[in-house]
Amino acid sequence: MKKTKIAIVGIGRVGATLAYQIINTGICDELILINKNPRKAWAEAMDLNHAMGYSDTIVNVIPGDYAACRDADLVVLSVSAPYVTGMTRLDMLESATDILKEVVPPIMDSGFNGIFLVITNPVDVMTYLVQRISGLPPERVIGTGTSLDSSRLRKAISDLMGVDSRSVDAFCMGEHGDSQMVPWSQVTVGSKKFLEIIEDNPLRFGGLNLDEVSQSVTQVAYQIVEAKGATSYAISYITAQIIEAIIKDKHKVLPVSVMLNGEYGERDVYCGVPAVLTSRGVKELVEYNLTEEELGRFKQSIAVLRGVNAKLL
Ligand code: 2OP
Repeated sequence: MKKTKIAIVGIGRVGATLAYQIINTGICDELILINKNPRKAWAEAMDLNHAMGYSDTIVNVIPGDYAACRDADLVVLSVSAPYVTGMTRLDMLESATDILKEVVPPIMDSGFNGIFLVITNPVDVMTYLVQRISGLPPERVIGTGTSLDSSRLRKAISDLMGVDSRSVDAFCMGEHGDSQMVPWSQVTVGSKKFLEIIEDNPLRFGGLNLDEVSQSVTQVAYQIVEAKGATSYAISYITAQIIEAIIKDKHKVLPVSVMLNGEYGERDVYCGVPAVLTSRGVKELVEYNLTEEELGRFKQSIAVLRGVNAKLL
C-alpha cells in the first residue's frame, strides 16, 4: 500500500503546531519538515518522534529538503516573515511574495505533483501566486482561506446561543482579512435559519447587532497577535482538518480559499468559499443564493483581492 506523505515548509509556530496536530491525529505515514534553518527542522522532528514511543498512531517525522517533496501527496506552505505589530495581513504582501517565489520553484523542480495547501498570509493572494508559479491545476492549489474565521464565527454563535458549535452551520466568505463578510441569510442553528431565530425571539436576541458579531470575528486575530505574537493553535487545528478531508477523501465541505471559475459571476481570483474537498483537491464549490446586499459585500471583498493580485503580476 502506498504510504501517505505530507511535507510542511516553514516550521515556525504554526508549522510546528500543525506537525504536532498531525502526529496526534495520525493523518499520514510520513511527515517531512522543511525549514530555512535545517537544525530547527531536525530538532522539531526529533522532539515529535520522541512522542511516539507509546503512541497508537505512528507518524514518521523526518527533517528534509525540497527534493523530499517529490512524492508528497500534499505540501503545506506555512512560511512567513516575522509579523510586525500593527500590520494587516495585506501589509505582509511583499515579504510573503519574496519568500514564496524562492520556495515554490525548487518544490516543483523536485517533480512534486500533489496538492498545495497555503497558510501564508495574505493567504488568498498567496494561494493565487502559488497557483501561478507552480502551474498546477487550481483545484490542487488551495488556501486555508476563511476556514479559521468560520470556526471563530461558529464558536461566537454557539456561545451567544448556548448551543453546541457542531449544531451551528455558519461561515465567512471572501478575503481572510478585513474585507471578509458573513452571509447571515445562510446561517442555521439546529437547521433553523439564524435570522428567523432572532426574529422569533425578540426578548432574547432583539438587541443583537450582527455587524458587531462579524466585526469581532474579523478583528480578534489582531488582539491575539498583539498579546502573544501570533495565532497558532486554531489555524493549526483547522488546517489539520482540511488536510484530513483531503488525504482521507472525505468529500467534506469546508470554507477554504479556492479559485472562482464563474461562480458569483467571478473568475481568476482566489477567495474563501465553502468547497467539497477530496483526495483530488477541490471537487466543487457550494454556490449560495445570497441576498443582493450580501452579494454586493462579497464582490467588494473580491475587488479588494483583485486589486492586490494585480500588484503581484
Ligand atoms: C489569523 O487570523 C493571523 O491570519 C491569522 O489568526
